[in-house]
Amino acid sequence: MFEPAGPVAADCAANAFELAVRTGLAQPQKIIPARYFYDEAGSQLFEAITQLPEYYPTRTETAILADHGAAIAAAIGPGRALVEFGSGSSAKTPLLLRPLHAAAYVPVDISGAYLNQSAAALGLQFPDLAILPVLADFTQAFALPAAVAALPRLGFFPGSTLGNLAPGAAIDLLRGFAQLLGPDSWLVIGTDLAPGPGKSVAVLEAAYDDAAGVTAAFNCNLLHRINRELGGTVRVAHFAHSAVWNADLGRIEMHLVARCDTDFTAAGQAFTMAAGETIHTENSYKWTLADTRLMAQASGWTPAHTWTDGAGCFAVQLWRHNCGAMQP
Ligand code: AVI
Repeated sequence: MFEPAGPVAADCAANAFELAVRTGLAQPQKIIPARYFYDEAGSQLFEAITQLPEYYPTRTETAILADHGAAIAAAIGPGRALVEFGSGSSAKTPLLLRPLHAAAYVPVDISGAYLNQSAAALGLQFPDLAILPVLADFTQAFALPAAVAALPRLGFFPGSTLGNLAPGAAIDLLRGFAQLLGPDSWLVIGTDLAPGPGKSVAVLEAAYDDAAGVTAAFNCNLLHRINRELGGTVRVAHFAHSAVWNADLGRIEMHLVARCDTDFTAAGQAFTMAAGETIHTENSYKWTLADTRLMAQASGWTPAHTWTDGAGCFAVQLWRHNCGAMQP
């Protein structure tokens, strides 16, 4: 059973992008927040990234869920509403849904067309499951459907999406999940891990700068998006994709680097950039297991189980809501 989500608030989204570009490009270090990657073209490019040989996180997390989905489900028990934050194509969801015997599935995503399409496809695989999509930006407050109000919940936050937030914002988001999901909830979360013996910095950087240039196209799509949606005059060929590991801050940084002095207008405003100047477009933090466990405890969760691949590239963790339990 699948009930489509309502229409997208397109005007609101367009204004937010315009505001982000106007303010972000006026700063000394130009910045466009990573969430604006995901228009239709960007979402398709991201799906292509997940299939790249260099982009190990998706296949590694998928393998962990395939190997341990049954153990995860056994630890949690049946009859829960599975709430997936940023569900996208819901590609990994069946790996949890199959062993879980969930009472309902609530995919939450900011892209309406994508959300309904994926929910409909999943409905074919799970015809008896109540599928209740919610069109929302999960980084902002939103309400769960009334139909799951009485059900215990399990949050699902795969894909290392948490890594696109700075640690403070990540803790705030996790705290918001704890409040939304309630005292009897669990959270299954996937995070890409910091470089170590099984993962070199070179492997990490290649995952964000692939040989086929798909990640470069994903990054440059932001410039095309400015031209398409904000009447921009950006000469995209004047920009190069850059992805580097910032060891001090523990994150991959993506930038768009001006290859030469260049100028353009966007949203009726003029901008100039000197050769070498950059627009910072994304951070992808890579934490250790100890970091993520501290973040769990700082945000109302208690780590219960951890599964990783053999090389220690990626982790899937099961956290339990700490119900406000007292600590000594
Ligand atoms: C969505 N997010 C977890 C991806 C990441 O790995 O940070 C986005 C991405 N950016 C470039 N490649 C993938």
